[in-house]
Amino acid sequence: MPPLRLAVLGCADFARRRMLPAFAACDDIALSAVASRDHARARSLADAYGCRALHGYTAALEDDDVDAVYIPLPAGLHAHWVREALLAGKHVLAEKPLATTRAETADLLDLARTRGLALVENVLFPHHSQHARARELVEAGTIGEPRFFQAAFTVPRRPDTDIRYRADLGGGALWDVGVYPVRAALFALGEDLRVAGAVAVRDTEWDVDTGGAALLHTPSGVSAQLAFGLDDAYRSVYTYAGSRGRLTVEPAFTPPADHIPSLRLERGGEITEVRLAAEDQVARAVAAFVAAVRGGVAPDVAVLRQAALLEAIATRAAVAARP
Ligand SMILES: NC(=O)c1ccc[n+]([C@@H]2O[C@H](COP(=O)([O-])OP(=O)(O)OC[C@H]3O[C@@H](n4cnc5c(N)ncnc54)[C@H](OP(=O)(O)O)[C@@H]3O)[C@@H](O)[C@H]2O)c1
Repeated sequence: MPPLRLAVLGCADFARRRMLPAFAACDDIALSAVASRDHARARSLADAYGCRALHGYTAALEDDDVDAVYIPLPAGLHAHWVREALLAGKHVLAEKPLATTRAETADLLDLARTRGLALVENVLFPHHSQHARARELVEAGTIGEPRFFQAAFTVPRRPDTDIRYRADLGGGALWDVGVYPVRAALFALGEDLRVAGAVAVRDTEWDVDTGGAALLHTPSGVSAQLAFGLDDAYRSVYTYAGSRGRLTVEPAFTPPADHIPSLRLERGGEITEVRLAAEDQVARAVAAFVAAVRGGVAPDVAVLRQAALLEAIATRAAVAARP
């Protein structure tokens, strides 16, 4: 089967650091073009990968030698360019979140379905099998009855000019890093999660939330306590707490490809480390995208539930100001 011809929209830092190397390493992908608002920028990145440079994102969507696009734009631009790409007949791998409302997310998923195109949200961590292994251990009763789940994804402050601090570009901690603990809670506790309450911390310097927390629960009262932030010490962790013990996965969301996972099981004062094989979650996510395009795999239902929960957290959060 010929490789999927892929174009990248925007010379994003994350695309340069993680996704372009993974696309280039995948035999099923042929990098076709890099498109940028700035032609010289597109040229220098395209040259590094021996592909074409295009000026403007529309040029990639109108290009017959492009089957699929990767969209690593600021969050507030995702929905527009995902829609344009689908309308142009391209398969789409888009950065998280697909859109900043549940309704828009549902519309985009419907559009992809009716056009017979793959639409995949680029949340990488679920592609690492350490999470399925952790859930299996919990389901096997290793920590007794599940009582609550705690997850945190917090990262250090970025330069003031970063897209994450721009309200007009869909910035803010919830859309950028809050996605991860919410997705982890869905994976751990299932789709019936509801939002009980939330806090959004607003920095007086920026018109966006720079951190927050949310309390969710299942109908049977298992709670999920989630934290996220853009001006914090680095944390990337979750814990299942049960009636007889707890299980922790750390680092949970961004383990490097050579990281040997070690799940930490604590029971009655005894600690057991469950070691697993290293996995490259970026390579696995890229392979899953190719499989979605080729196999006509339906979008992950978690994407829509995640969008609904993020919207509920955003609308219900009590706002606190950080001086
Ligand atoms: N899945 C993951 O693990 C992960 C990790 C990190 C980041 N991300 C996501 O990747 C995306 C990019 O993040 P990043 O940190 O790489 O950001 P970035 O370096 O600032 O890149 C954003 C790109 O968007 C384009 N753009 C279009 N309109 C823009 C505007 N008005 N202002 C600024 N840039 C604009 C620019 O490309 P041109 O100027 O070349 O057109 C720019 O290079 C975000 O959606 C982020 O959430 C995902």
